[in-house]
Amino acid sequence: MEEVNQTVVSEFILLGLCDTWELQAFLLLVFPLLYLITILGNNFTVLLIISDLHLHSPMYFLLANLSFIDFCLSTVITPKMITDFLKEHKTISFGGCMCQIFFGHFLGGSEMVLLVLMAYDRYVAICKPLHYSSIMNKQMCIWLVMTSWITGFVHSISQLAIIIKLPFCGPRELDSFFCDIPLVIKLACMDTYILEKLINADSGVLATTCFTLLLISYTYILLTVCHQSKDGASKALSTCTAHITVVVLFFGPCIFIYLCPLGITWVDKFLAVFYAVITPLLNPAIYTLRNKEIKIAIKRL
Ligand SMILES: *[C@@H]1O[C@H](CO)[C@@H](O)[C@H](O)[C@H]1NC(C)=O
Repeated sequence: MEEVNQTVVSEFILLGLCDTWELQAFLLLVFPLLYLITILGNNFTVLLIISDLHLHSPMYFLLANLSFIDFCLSTVITPKMITDFLKEHKTISFGGCMCQIFFGHFLGGSEMVLLVLMAYDRYVAICKPLHYSSIMNKQMCIWLVMTSWITGFVHSISQLAIIIKLPFCGPRELDSFFCDIPLVIKLACMDTYILEKLINADSGVLATTCFTLLLISYTYILLTVCHQSKDGASKALSTCTAHITVVVLFFGPCIFIYLCPLGITWVDKFLAVFYAVITPLLNPAIYTLRNKEIKIAIKRL
């Protein structure tokens, strides 16, 4: 093999979310507030569910896990983005960049699987109500949650294994506010066409499998609900609309970032903000504000 004298890139330059000072100053006011609400909302949900015995059921345990993941996911990206608003030269170390990629995909992958599990839980509750407590027992619940974490980990570590070995030598500018695979891979000093396809396939298989499973469970649920009495149907529908909203909010941006990237910088940035800042904020809001039992639990508190 040819020996090339490579200068190793030790940090990347982030171009940030926007380039005007006025807009950055405005976002510097807005994002800390959004982040604060995200932390409080998600942690409150977790604590409420753990502390209230009436909420000790599989659906709420899964919801608590979702809130925990959302809290972690926004912590991987938002604080760094906020402190970067204050700096003119925004940089991220190579290690920091790999960490963001690893945790972003680990948590994102786990969340995807968790959404499927939440749909499965509702499927069993609505379509097989008599068997619910025997199917979704404590053991099963722990096992399901473990599956989601393990899948996220395998997905993330397989992507990282590809990225971390790439030769980075020259260009180091990322036109974004955090490190993510589609941008970082373009900086490698080699032809990455096949690797890009491999990574797309990795994310694609996971996302498509999850999405298909979600579609199947919600179709079953909706079909079952249609044949039920009006009262039961409306209750089941209201729970499921919350779930489906979250699924759309989560998968929508993912599809356009990883599966069919549009390649328009501002759209990509908008989707990334949506995915990293807005979705983790909306999830607890959607569940808690729409859920009677959670509202009652808050009153009890
Ligand atoms: C996640 O789910 C498991 C299994 O039901 C539960 O024991 C655990 O408390 C949940 N974790 C969080 C952070 O809510």
